[in-house]
Order: sequence, then structure tokens, then C-alpha cells
Amino acid sequence: MRARGWASIGRLLAGSQRLSSRSHAVMAEEAKKLAAYAAVDNHVQNNQVVGVGSGSTIVYAVDRLAERVRQEKLNIICVPTSFQARQLILQHGLTLSDLDRHPELDVAIDGADEVDADLTLIKGGGGCLTQEKIVAGCAKHFVVIADFRKDSKALGQQWKKGVPIEVIPMAYVPVSRTIAKCFGGEAKLRMAVSKAGPVVTDNSNFILDWKFEHAHKWKEVNTAIKMIPGVVETGLFVGMAERAYFGMEDGSVQVRDPPVN
Ligand code: A5P
Repeated sequence: MRARGWASIGRLLAGSQRLSSRSHAVMAEEAKKLAAYAAVDNHVQNNQVVGVGSGSTIVYAVDRLAERVRQEKLNIICVPTSFQARQLILQHGLTLSDLDRHPELDVAIDGADEVDADLTLIKGGGGCLTQEKIVAGCAKHFVVIADFRKDSKALGQQWKKGVPIEVIPMAYVPVSRTIAKCFGGEAKLRMAVSKAGPVVTDNSNFILDWKFEHAHKWKEVNTAIKMIPGVVETGLFVGMAERAYFGMEDGSVQVRDPPVN
């Protein structure tokens, strides 16, 4: 009898845990939307070329961008950072371009996996880091949109999957070994979920996820990793973002700019 009592209390607790993690996820979706709308409203103007990031948060930004283009009759040209971004631009009837035709962007808006106090980012959870970094690097302003779960004091506090590193397929083992030897931790090949074998990026490369053991000087580490033969790009975005918008659990939007040194 008592055992059955405990079992039903356990079921109740598990149920309420499921409910609270579901409501946390609902809040995170709302927070993504808040951040995305704030960035598009504050940073996009008529006659601009806009870099469109990748991931789940950018979906809300493209929704808002398309809404503003329709309502305000804006003339906006969009440059995608991935196949996904290209699809989003086309699905919303926005004007698609590329870096050949528009190598200078007014603003790029993108999500992040983690944003630290200095606005150093980890990106590439969705595997699109290389094109994202190229497009952000071509923009006069690079703005990040994220929900409260991405807000961190130091990298690694919130995002536990490590730093994504795009590599040429034939080099993934030597690159992984060099990273572990020089910087510690472990750099593991990212495996696909609904396909046998590794994730293959939009650039036909592989991704290593480097789980680091402690904080690093990210600028130096980024440069050093990029020097390893076979590395295409890292998901460390250092000194690139000029503003981050965080949608918060209470429905507010917090803005973070890089510290003034
Ligand atoms: C894509 O490779 C990533 O860099 C995304 O921009 C990043 O993972 C943020 O994605 P979400 O908006 O889905 O969190």
C-alpha cells in the first residue's frame, strides 16, 4: 500500500517535472521571438542588405523582417548564412542575394549557442558556423539574438556541447589529436541523427565538437586552432558581435554591448 503511495507520488513529481520543463521550453520560444523582433525593429532600415543567420531563433527574425517588408514596403536584400537561411528567405518571399553581388552588408543578425560577458560567442550548434562567420565578417554591424538560456558569464557555463570546429573530412583525426594535445579536452566527430555516419556541413565538411576543460584566452585559441592544417573555421566568434539581445523569462528583452576597454 505504502509502496503504491510512493509510486503515485513519484508519478506526480515526474509529471510536474515534465510540465515545468515543457513550460521552460515554451518560455524559451517566446524569449527567442522577443529578442528577434527587437533586433529586427532596432537594426533594419529601408534599402539595406541584411545577413540572415541560421538556427531556430532566426526563424522569428525572418518572420518579423517579412512582416515589416510587407507593411512598410521596405526594400531589403537578404544574404543567407546556410541552406536553411536561404530556404527561409525564399519561403518568406524576401529578396535573395549572395556575397558575389552584395559583399558589403549593412547588418547581419544571427543566433548563438552561448554569449559570454564580453560578447564572445560559441556558434555552430546547427553546423553553419563557417558561412555565419563569413557573412558576419562582411557586415557593418553584427547583432546576436538569443533566449535567456544562452546568457553566460564565461563560455562553457551554459553550453555543454563544446566549441564546434569545421574540418576538411580527411583531416578530422589529426585535427582532433592536435587540439587535445595543445589545449586539452576532447574534440569528437559530430555524428548525424537521422543518417548513418557523421554530420556533413553545407560546405561538405565534418564538424568536431571540442569539449574544453577550462576557460581559455579565446582570441588566442581561436587563432591557434585556425592554424592547424585541415581546420576550416571555428565556432568561436571573438570581437565580432556589437550587440546581443536576450529574450528573458519575464517577457523583457535585455541588451548587452561589449565592455569598453
Ligand atoms: C548554427 O550553426 C548556429 O550557429 C546557430 O546560429 C546557433 O546554434 C543558434 O541556434 P538557435 O537559434 O537554434 O539556438
